[in-house]
Amino acid sequence: MKELLRELKERSLSAIESADSAQALEELRVKYLGKKGELTAVLKQMGKLSAEERPAMGQLANDVRAQLERRLAERGEAIAAAALEHKLKSETLDVTIPGAEYRLGHRHPMYTVLDEIKEIFIGMGFDILDGPEVELGEYNFTKLNIDEGHPSREWTDTFYFTPDSRVCLRTQTSPMQVHAMETRTLPIRIIAPGRVYRKDEVDATHSPMFHQIEGMAIDKGVTMADLKGTLNTVVRRLYGENTVTRFRPHHFPFTEPSCEMDVQCHKCGGVGCPTCKGEGWIEVLGAGMIHPKVLAGCGIDPDVYSGWAFGMGLERLALRSYKISDLRLIFENDTRFLEQF
Ligand code: DAH
Repeated sequence: MKELLRELKERSLSAIESADSAQALEELRVKYLGKKGELTAVLKQMGKLSAEERPAMGQLANDVRAQLERRLAERGEAIAAAALEHKLKSETLDVTIPGAEYRLGHRHPMYTVLDEIKEIFIGMGFDILDGPEVELGEYNFTKLNIDEGHPSREWTDTFYFTPDSRVCLRTQTSPMQVHAMETRTLPIRIIAPGRVYRKDEVDATHSPMFHQIEGMAIDKGVTMADLKGTLNTVVRRLYGENTVTRFRPHHFPFTEPSCEMDVQCHKCGGVGCPTCKGEGWIEVLGAGMIHPKVLAGCGIDPDVYSGWAFGMGLERLALRSYKISDLRLIFENDTRFLEQF
């Protein structure tokens, strides 16, 4: 029996030594140490031994079991380590290879200017409105006191969708005045930025699509002084505390009286230079007191309420802010140009 145990020990240890996978090891454990395993089979024969022989043989069998268990565990660890090593080698990651570059964009310079303007008006209690670019002629013109036959309603100036001139692309953001008056409760303080469209050829200062910002305030007792105060506040916030403005009389069908606001040229201080085309002043916007006919047409009693409105071109403002000379650069979206801002 002693011989049997010794032979079993040698055979099993060498088998364990040459096992090369966790699965093979498990099979060996079952083969030798399992309930129906070879060592168990040998132990079952202990009953045949004499009482004197039994303890020594039992001791020997226990030693063999302990040795097999230890070697199985050691071999298992070695196999796991080798597998890990292999995995690490085959899955090497070269952290020095440059990654795929992710290019993060930034706001278009014109929208940065628009954000500044919105911020200023929000601070003064105005709401920002959005409205349709496809507009009824009635809203784009008629309700703004621009009657049939007015030159700006011509097919040569305006993009129409229907032969009866009923539907068009808005030529100005001023119809937002009408939308606001018809849908909001008084008092009203809004600005409405957005795209407008006119039949213009593209050049350094013209584009068939451009942006305007409409502004409007209606309440009891609103005067031209409020208009001037508000607009002066805005340009001083935009261009600095010392910005000088002037208001010139003008004509718009939907305001009475009407004016245009100029800002003194920041380049020459009003003397005249190429930036202001020798004028000393740069025109910024059109404005005025909302015509009583327009108020009444929108259901607001002009004897009780009064209001002012203005409209300005956003591109021109951005061009001036960033000292850009050509309008086309704003729309071409060449990232080499836009990245500078
Ligand atoms: N809508 C006018 C334009 O496109 C600009 C304008 C002038 C808007 C006077 C106004 C205003 O609100 O009061 O030329």
